[in-house]
Order: sequence, then structure tokens, then C-alpha cells
Amino acid sequence: MPDASSPDPLVIFTPSGKRGRVPAGTTVLAAARALGVDLDSVCGGRGICSKCQVAPQTGSFPKHGITATDSALSPWNAVEARYAEKRGLQPGRRLGCQACIEADTLIDVPPESQLHRQVIRKSADARPIEMDPATRLAYVEVAEPDMDEPTGDWQRLAAALAAAGHPVTEAPAPAQLARLQPALRKAGWRVTAAVHTDGAGRSRLIDLWPGLRTEPLKGIAFDLGSTTIAAHLTDLSDGRVIASAGVMNPQIRFGEDLMSRVSYAMMTPGGAEEMTAAVRAAIGDLATALGRDAGVEPREITEAVVVCNPVMHHLFLGIDPVELGQAPFALASDAALDLSTAELGLAGFNPAARLYTLPLIAGHVGADAAAVALSEAPETSDDLVLIVDVGTNAEILLGDRSGVLACSSPTGPAFEGAQISSGQRAAPGAIERVEIDPATKEPRFRVIGSDLWSDAPGFAASVAQTGVTGICGSGIIEALAEMRIAGLLDASGLIGSAEQTGTARCEPQGRTHQYLLHDGTPEGGPRLTVTQGDVRAIQLAKSALYAGARLLMDARGVTRVDRVVLAGAFGAHISPKHAMVLGMIPDVALDRVTSAGNAAGTGARIALVNCGARTRIEAGVRRIHKIETATQPRFQEHFVNASALPHATDPFPNLAAAVTLPEVGFNTEGGRRRRR
Ligand code: FES
Repeated sequence: MPDASSPDPLVIFTPSGKRGRVPAGTTVLAAARALGVDLDSVCGGRGICSKCQVAPQTGSFPKHGITATDSALSPWNAVEARYAEKRGLQPGRRLGCQACIEADTLIDVPPESQLHRQVIRKSADARPIEMDPATRLAYVEVAEPDMDEPTGDWQRLAAALAAAGHPVTEAPAPAQLARLQPALRKAGWRVTAAVHTDGAGRSRLIDLWPGLRTEPLKGIAFDLGSTTIAAHLTDLSDGRVIASAGVMNPQIRFGEDLMSRVSYAMMTPGGAEEMTAAVRAAIGDLATALGRDAGVEPREITEAVVVCNPVMHHLFLGIDPVELGQAPFALASDAALDLSTAELGLAGFNPAARLYTLPLIAGHVGADAAAVALSEAPETSDDLVLIVDVGTNAEILLGDRSGVLACSSPTGPAFEGAQISSGQRAAPGAIERVEIDPATKEPRFRVIGSDLWSDAPGFAASVAQTGVTGICGSGIIEALAEMRIAGLLDASGLIGSAEQTGTARCEPQGRTHQYLLHDGTPEGGPRLTVTQGDVRAIQLAKSALYAGARLLMDARGVTRVDRVVLAGAFGAHISPKHAMVLGMIPDVALDRVTSAGNAAGTGARIALVNCGARTRIEAGVRRIHKIETATQPRFQEHFVNASALPHATDPFPNLAAAVTLPEVGFNTEGGRRRRR
């Protein structure tokens, strides 16, 4: 019996540092719950799931002002002994639901026992993702039916779940009830339930498995872009990406960019429905393929998150996007939605799986921009950051702790290699890096799938499988920027002739010129050139991007930013120097331009594994001030000035300090060559 006059034992948990006194005899799990310490449990303390494992520490800990002995916890009990014998328990570990606190103790909670463990993101400066999934597993023992106290099987299951801390507020679907009775009886009334809770506190049963299930559930984060759809199959217990895949958005056949798809919906009876069916089928096929390739049954995939721009959002949900094609660009709803995959007719998921769409920011600024904001958190930045997510539509955010502005700019598909004469998707064989010697004007390049530059010994053998097939988005940016640095392209975007540039690689093409980057014809490959039309396509795209950024800077009342973050599957591969030579982004010190990878995809993954993040971004988007580029009078002016390489009027002092751009001019109107 503890001495009534001595204080209750002190328990300190690491790594959280949470501490407090609990009555002697309290289990470690109960103490953790009382002190708000993150300690997992699926079986509700029955000693069968081992999710509550802890590592008690002994010795003197001056930092914590505590000395803990071996007898601080109750001796190893029969439940632990049975668990250790059957499943094994690491040396030094105890089951938190069995070990009782008898004296002052220091208890370490290992990462795998933390429900809200942090997932480290690959990029060094990225914030970790905290786990807080919306769907949880709970093992329960359901009371058997009793003739004297008749209640339904569902009611007894719901009561057991409520007692285990997982109340279910929503009625089950008839199909779930139909499976319930045989499932409970077959499992001997011991089942593990998956319970999903949405942001409004509504909770529902997703599925039941016989006995104890500790195998983690899975979810898929979708980044639904106008051109491509990317999907990440994710472990909902630790946030690990199990497999990723991508496909082209099948809606491309109805129109390459968003506005042409809106027009297709407007002009073609049934057109919107056709596009809805196409994108849902593609998402379902992607989910099915991801699960199949990773050996994960559809039943195991219980959640999805989709981020996309407003037109994609409306088409995916079956809403005619016609209002998004004209001012004032009204959305059907800008709220986040919690839906069932079944009502959207998506294949590849558990029949009761839930699908969450992030909130939209405005008529042209979508859930993809919200996902970028969730991933990059500009509202926590001390300095003024410009975040550019480059895709067919660019999402642009500018802000710091004092506020965030957002807009979207229609850059078109040129940055993704479309509308470029030798353009192709970023795939093996595509040129992704280019250098041009300013003296000889000779190029060298690297292709995806080979680590060698094209002038290195062994290059030909290294691309024998893939060939050199085209130029991807980052390749065309580098090619143009290198042409500008080498004096093959002037500030207005004209490619010079062989005579003007001194290289036979500048060939006539109709009334303009093109630069020969690679002639693969001797090996039966294509001849890859950069044409005047390619330069114009990139100029249009980059002008739209820069003009969008400048509009946000105008609204903020600044002419410069402190740093730039390039995001997007393509943005991650752009070299800052080359982007700035072309004037895609405002002038800033080159080492202040960083890459965030696929920030929209990361935002989708964060929302998939952390329901608190969903609540945060739902509130956060209401504080983001939107700028509508289409109706801003200065957009046109900024667009025209941004057409020059790098810019007609804005100074680029940081760029000038790093790169000298030759002052060439190839406008030969009137038969005379001008030189500035
Ligand atoms: S809570 Fe399941 S074993 Fe302790």
C-alpha cells in the first residue's frame, strides 16, 4: 500500500517533456491520456495490439530532476508475458496499457507508438508532416444479442465503439448493415472497425475486419492537373508513400487548356458530362492500378484527397463549369467537401471510402493553390516570399506573416513541353538540361535516364535504349536561356541567322530561323530544333507568369520580393538562373530561389494524413486575398512588358551581377541588321 502521506508518483514522458503526478497504480496508457501525451492504442488496453509500447528509462536524469529505478513500474504481468511469447517484444519495452506506475519514472514513447508521429519530408528545408488521420482503427468486443434485452447488432456495435472512444454519429448504409450480421457472428463478436471523422465532427463506420487488425489503412492523394493526374498511395499510419503513378488527363481530347474545356462544355450538349465521366474513370483506373501494383486490395484504400483548379474541380464533381468561363467567375461552392468515392462512381476503393476536396480560393484560384499554401505556409514566412506553381495554369502566392495574396495566371501548356515543335513530356529520352558554349555556339545536353552530358564518352551507349526523343519543359527553358546568353537570341525573342550569329546551327526556317540542338537522323532519330514559334510560345507563357506575379506585387505595394519558391512537377526542375534569364520570375538573388518540388501534391498528402491540416486550410483560405488577373487593367501592360527577355522595363540587377547578356539585335526589317 502506498504511504498516504507521500505525494503521488511523478511521471515524465519523452520526447514531449509532458509531466505530472498520477495516483500509484495508474497504467502508463491512462497516465499518457490524462497528461495529453500522444500514445497509440487500437485494442483499447486489452494487451493485444502492442501499439502502446513504451521504453521506461532508469537512472538519474538531472535535466528532468528525476531518478527512476527498476521498480518504478509494476512487474512484467501475464498479459505482457503472453504477448512477448507469441509476438515478441523488444528488450526494454513494456505495454503501456499493462505497466502501472508505482514510483517516479521517466518514460520514452518511441516514434512507432505515437499516433501523431512526424513524417520527415525529403527536402531539407521542408516542414515535417504530422500524422493525424481522419480514419482510425478500433478493436472492440461487441455484446452478443440477448432475448431479454433486445437491441440491434448495429446498436451494440455502436455502443462498443462509443465506449472505446470512437462514437459513430452517422447511420450505416444499407449495404453495410447487410454485411454486419454475418461479419459479427463469424468474428465471434470481436472486430476491428475503421471509423472516419470529418471536419464537422460527423463520424461514420467505414468497414469491419474480424478480430484484431493492426495492418495500416491506405489512402491516395491526387493532384488533378489540367494536363496530368498524379497519385500517391500512402500509408495512413505513418504517411509513407507506398507507390506513385501518373497519367495524362484524358480531358485533353476535349481541349488542351481550361478555357477550351469550358467552351467544349458550353458548345457541346452533354459535353460537361462526357468530361466528368472521363476524369472519374481515369482517377478510378489510377487507384486500381496503384493498388494492384503495390499489392494493396481496393478494400484497404479507405480515403482519398483531391486537389485541383476550379474548372477541374467542377468537372470532377459533375458541375457544369460554364460560370467559370465568364466574369464574375462564380464557383458553385468554394467550400471543402467530404464525399464518398462510391457516390462519385470511383473504382479502386473500399465501398465506403471517403474523398476530401480542399477548399477553393476563388473562381480562378483553386484547391491546388490552397494545397500549395498548406505545403509552403507563406503566412508563417518572416520575409516576403513569392511562390510560383508552374503548370498549364500557374498558381501564384505572395505573402508573409502580415498577409497572403493569390492569383492564377493562364500560362498554357508550353512549359510542359506542349506547343513546342520538338516538345515532349518529361520522360526517358527527353532533353532536360542544355548548355551552349558562348564562343563556339555548340550545345551539349543531358537527357532523362542518363547521367552523362552529350559530349561525354559513353553518352551514346547510355542513351542507346531510350534515344534522344524530344525536349521537355525544363529543357526548353534552358535551351532558350542558353541561346540568349550565347547571343543566338535577342532581347525581343528573335533567333539570329547563321550570318548574324556565326554558327551554321542557326538555320533558315521560312522567314525566321531555328537553332539545331541535336541531329539524330544518322542514328534514325529525330532532328531536334528550337524554332521561332517555340520562342514565341514560351514568351507568351512566361509573360503571363511574370504579369501575374507583378499584379500581386502591385497589390502589395512592392517592386521586389525577398525570395522565390518554384513549385510544381516542372517547377522543381527549372534552374533558377535560366528562369531568371528568361524573366519568368522577378529579379532576386539567385541563391534566394528555391525549389519546393510538387507543392500541390505535398499539400494533398498533408491533407490526406492530417485532419487538423484540413481545418487549418479551410480557415486559412478565407484569409488569402485573391486577385483576379482577367479583370485587372494592368495585367495587359505587365504582360506586354514581360515579353522581352528578361524584361522590357523592370531592372534585373541580381541577374546582371551573375550573368552578362550580350546586347544583340536580330530585327532585320528594311534589310539592315540592327545592333544595339
Ligand atoms: S493498447 Fe493494445 S496492447 Fe496496449
